[in-house]
Amino acid sequence: MPDMMQTQAGEAGAFLDFDLNRVPSPCFVVDAAAVERNLSVLAEVSERSGAHVLSALKAFSMFALAPLVRQYLGGTCASGIYEARLGREEYGGEVATFCAGYKDSEIDEIIALSDHVIFNSPAQKARFLEKCQAAGRQVGLRINPEHSEGEVEKYDPCAPCSRLGTPVSQLNAEALEGVDGLHMHTLCEQGVEPLLRTWEAVEPRLQPWLNGLKWLNFGGGHHISREDYDRDTLVDFIKYIRETYGVDVYLEPGEAVALDAGILVGEVLDLPVNGMPLAITDISATCHMPDVIEAPYRPALMGEVEDGQTYRLGGPSCLAGDVIGEYTWAHPLKVGDRFAFLDQAHYSMVKTNTFNGVPLPAIALWDSRTDELRMIREFGYEDFRGRLS
Ligand SMILES: Cc1ncc(COP(=O)(O)O)c(C=O)c1O
Repeated sequence: MPDMMQTQAGEAGAFLDFDLNRVPSPCFVVDAAAVERNLSVLAEVSERSGAHVLSALKAFSMFALAPLVRQYLGGTCASGIYEARLGREEYGGEVATFCAGYKDSEIDEIIALSDHVIFNSPAQKARFLEKCQAAGRQVGLRINPEHSEGEVEKYDPCAPCSRLGTPVSQLNAEALEGVDGLHMHTLCEQGVEPLLRTWEAVEPRLQPWLNGLKWLNFGGGHHISREDYDRDTLVDFIKYIRETYGVDVYLEPGEAVALDAGILVGEVLDLPVNGMPLAITDISATCHMPDVIEAPYRPALMGEVEDGQTYRLGGPSCLAGDVIGEYTWAHPLKVGDRFAFLDQAHYSMVKTNTFNGVPLPAIALWDSRTDELRMIREFGYEDFRGRLS
């Protein structure tokens, strides 16, 4: 398995026309037109296939766009109590919550907020089943298909000793008692073929239980809005599942909602040299794009060229490894120059932190169709202080 993920960022598209000096730095700029383009692709799949498509808040929860999301999708999927509340209060529609471990102190609120409460293990399900049923909630169990399609082990819920999902080999009547539907999430930025292979591997093992279920939830990781995604095959697959087993089908895409829909704008602060040209910037990998270190991956830089001046870009924090990567510009950089990383709307905005007291990026909403720009949020010292005591 490779130790580095490949960025799936597409072309810069309309962002090439966006003047990076129109926003403060650092700043996430999300193009409402690009989000709407993705949403309409997802809505079309939903309409053609009959699947319920929920927006995964863990990937993209810019709730300023909730009214837009609501026009196209059936609701949200949440990873726990706060996302369930955000989904219920801001987005509306259905809320499906999956969490690897629910707490006694939170479960009542989670049940109140969620239409589907999905458990990771038969033990958690047994513990909270009565409460869910008393509230008339749908009860789900996440299974682990024990079939790996993951590119990187860290993002493979079917890797050996994974804690995510009940291994299909452990399913029995007791595990499924009171369960309305099964959930599986095994993909990451993938096409339809890995989904088909996963189903092929798991279908025979689920055969004894499938007819008693009300729904199947195929989680996220489907890059449905990517240009090369085979949506016809996905539609056929969903229809097959619905017709063969008489179940509702749910999908929970996150990235696909916000794919290629946002940039992170930064600024050059200093240009030291140590073995090679360096650039200190106000974008920190560890604070603003933690997946750069965690995945790890190299984010695509807007307008990067092959030949020119190469710099190693890093953040202002104390972490020696706060390095974004090496990038080449056609002309030498100057202090104050602006630049932007592509495809940053998902899994960056939701993961920012203020380690070292590094300021959080502002959030701006742009519409490439009208060129309208709206500053949604700017953060300050109080946001840093508010998380400490
Ligand atoms: C249970 C579940 N549903 C949905 C998603 C969304 O996945 P993606 O953003 O890759 O589509 C994830 C991502 O980790 C997940 O764990």
